[in-house]
Amino acid sequence: MYSIAVTFLFLLSLLPTAIQAQPNACTQDSTSNILLSSCLLSKNIQNFTYRSNSSSSEYIKLLTFSIQNLRYSLPSNPKPAIIIFPLSEYQLQHAILCLRQSSLTIRVRSGGHSYEGLSYTTSYNYPFGIIDLTNLNRVQVDPSSATAWVEAGATLGEIYYNVAVESNQTLGFPAGSCATIGSGGHISGGGYGFLSRKYGLAADNVLDVTFIDPNGRVLNRSQMDEDVFWAVRGGGGGSWGIVYAWKLRLVPVPNQVTWFNIYKSGLIEPLADLVHKWQDVGPSLPDEFFLSTAISGLWDGNGSVTFTGLYLGPKESAFSILSKRYPELQISESDLEEMSWIETTVKAAWVNSVSDLRNRGTSKNFFKAKSDYVKTPISKEGLIGAIKFLTKETSAYIIFKPYGGVLERIGGTDLPFPHRAGNLYNIQYVIDWTKVEEGMTDKYIAWLRDFYAYMGSFVSKNPRAAYVNYLDLDLGTNNWTAGTSSTVDDVNHARLWGNAYFLWNYDRLVRAKTKIDPENVFNNEQSIPPLSK
Ligand SMILES: Cc1cc2nc3c(=O)[nH]c(=O)nc-3n(C[C@H](O)[C@H](O)[C@H](O)COP(=O)(O)OP(=O)(O)OC[C@H]3O[C@@H](n4cnc5c(N)ncnc54)[C@H](O)[C@@H]3O)c2cc1C
Ligand SMILES: *[C@@H]1O[C@H](CO)[C@@H](O)[C@H](O)[C@H]1NC(C)=O
Ligand SMILES: *[C@@H]1O[C@H](CO)[C@@H](O)[C@H](O)[C@H]1NC(C)=O
Ligand SMILES: *[C@@H]1O[C@H](CO)[C@@H](O)[C@H](O)[C@H]1NC(C)=O
Ligand SMILES: *[C@@H]1O[C@H](CO)[C@@H](O)[C@H](O)[C@H]1NC(C)=O
Ligand SMILES: *[C@@H]1O[C@H](CO)[C@@H](O)[C@H](O)[C@H]1NC(C)=O
Ligand SMILES: *[C@@H]1O[C@H](CO)[C@@H](O)[C@H](O)[C@H]1NC(C)=O
Repeated sequence: MYSIAVTFLFLLSLLPTAIQAQPNACTQDSTSNILLSSCLLSKNIQNFTYRSNSSSSEYIKLLTFSIQNLRYSLPSNPKPAIIIFPLSEYQLQHAILCLRQSSLTIRVRSGGHSYEGLSYTTSYNYPFGIIDLTNLNRVQVDPSSATAWVEAGATLGEIYYNVAVESNQTLGFPAGSCATIGSGGHISGGGYGFLSRKYGLAADNVLDVTFIDPNGRVLNRSQMDEDVFWAVRGGGGGSWGIVYAWKLRLVPVPNQVTWFNIYKSGLIEPLADLVHKWQDVGPSLPDEFFLSTAISGLWDGNGSVTFTGLYLGPKESAFSILSKRYPELQISESDLEEMSWIETTVKAAWVNSVSDLRNRGTSKNFFKAKSDYVKTPISKEGLIGAIKFLTKETSAYIIFKPYGGVLERIGGTDLPFPHRAGNLYNIQYVIDWTKVEEGMTDKYIAWLRDFYAYMGSFVSKNPRAAYVNYLDLDLGTNNWTAGTSSTVDDVNHARLWGNAYFLWNYDRLVRAKTKIDPENVFNNEQSIPPLSK
């Protein structure tokens, strides 16, 4: 790529100015590419690739490498004019500045797991470039202070691996389960996982940040506005600037913990009973106990429920707690397995081995998801109805993740993530499929929307809440088609999803946005709009 750009520069210097003065669409494109290239190269940024070279399969490979939702990987999805891979904080800073000088808007990508593709495509017609943090993935663990500095391009698997190895398996970190998620997007949106009832969200454990603002200034916690440091820890990625690195608080984990995964299938009514009871148990178990449940329907009219558990202690205690609190589960001691914490991250991520946690390649599919919060238990009839609904579409499933524990005790305004006290659990609705078939995408998505409508009477209301990391463009989108300068109307319109994700914290996010990015440089379909101009 370096050599391509240099060749362009060399050719340009040979061209008579008359030719440059009569640009058609193509030469205009390459002229601006040349300016951008020279900006990047002058800062020693050498790893970038342009779309204009459409013969380059390298471009497609680098673009699709971390696209997790194949719905946004189709030929019809708008593609970036350039993908830039910075190698250092300095290069990241200048990638922002060079793109701002060009006519391209910026999308930033860490792990590429955005549910709606916001890190690498757009529904607007603006040409854009991606700053991809894949190569910024260093993880520096300091076991003596139980902290780590991690670059935002590091995946959760890379963090877990390094933390476990460097601490001789004494420390862990509370974050999500899929190993290939990027810490950049994940922690920006909160980050919930198996340790969250004990230690909170990933964002609750951020001690400091190295952040690059829209003007390319590098800021740490003490140098940035308090509202902005608050906003970047859960207010959603892509709105503020770019997080270069996080300083994380690591948490103690026992040498051996207990893991289980139990699958039950059968008639709907007894399964609904089991899930009905889970609603009391899951959110009120000791903080050390995580117990989630996933439900799907079977074509034969039966249902299935999978219980996944992690207990930070020996299996005898786990067994005794479950026998007392949840005898209906009918668990036997042989269902429980003791292992190290890092081995549970391997199980949770469905990878094969501890070393595979660092593997960035991952299986992918097409999917649509939505989310809800539940504050009062759903009636048994409601659950029966839900499982019946699911038997009509076996490509779909729902996951209930327990809250309570420390999540109940962290204040609802401490960070932008507001879904703390009073929430029993989060529901995620997912439908996924593996190949493009005529008309099927719309059918799957319409089905999920119908199901979500059915669930409306059982879940949180006014507003119906949602989790920003389970991004859902059905909640509404910014209209930046006529330009990105933002008015009071834009700010009010964005309450459609802003209130669902952030409740009472939305207005403070708008204030933070107005301070750090009044020109709305970092915008996307659901970014927080500034209150200016
Ligand atoms: C298979 C799968 C499993 C998941 N499991 C969980 C889970 O267990 N718990 C949970 O909480 N969530 C989970 N998620 C959701 C996940 O946390 C979010 O999708 C998250 O935003 C992904 O981060 P990313 O860096 O991989 O994504 P990206 O697509 O790279 O980024 C997501 C958003 O953040 C922005 N962004 C990325 N990097 C930065 C940065 N460095 N600075 C500022 N903004 C940035 C992007 O522009 C985009 O808007 C899961 C997602 C998938 C696909
Ligand atoms: C640029 O970075 C990407 C992502 O890590 C890598 O696959 C590619 O080989 C790099 N290209 C060059 C020329 O270094
Ligand atoms: C396009 O990419 C190919 C393969 O990477 C390269 O050989 C070729 O020189 C490039 N063409 C242009 C015009 O940059
Ligand atoms: C690592 O942990 C094991 C088991 O707890 C212990 O026996 C060993 O001494 C530890 N090693 C170091 C270097 O601390
Ligand atoms: C933030 O950066 C400044 C300037 O580099 C430095 O003096 C200060 O110690 C840093 N603060 C923290 C909390 O690291
Ligand atoms: C449903 O589950 C029940 C109980 O496990 C089982 O007897 C039955 O064969 C299953 N299938 C159907 C179609 O009922
Ligand atoms: C978005 O804004 C443009 C320009 O103001 C307007 O024409 C268009 O109707 C708007 N679209 C929506 C969906 O509001």
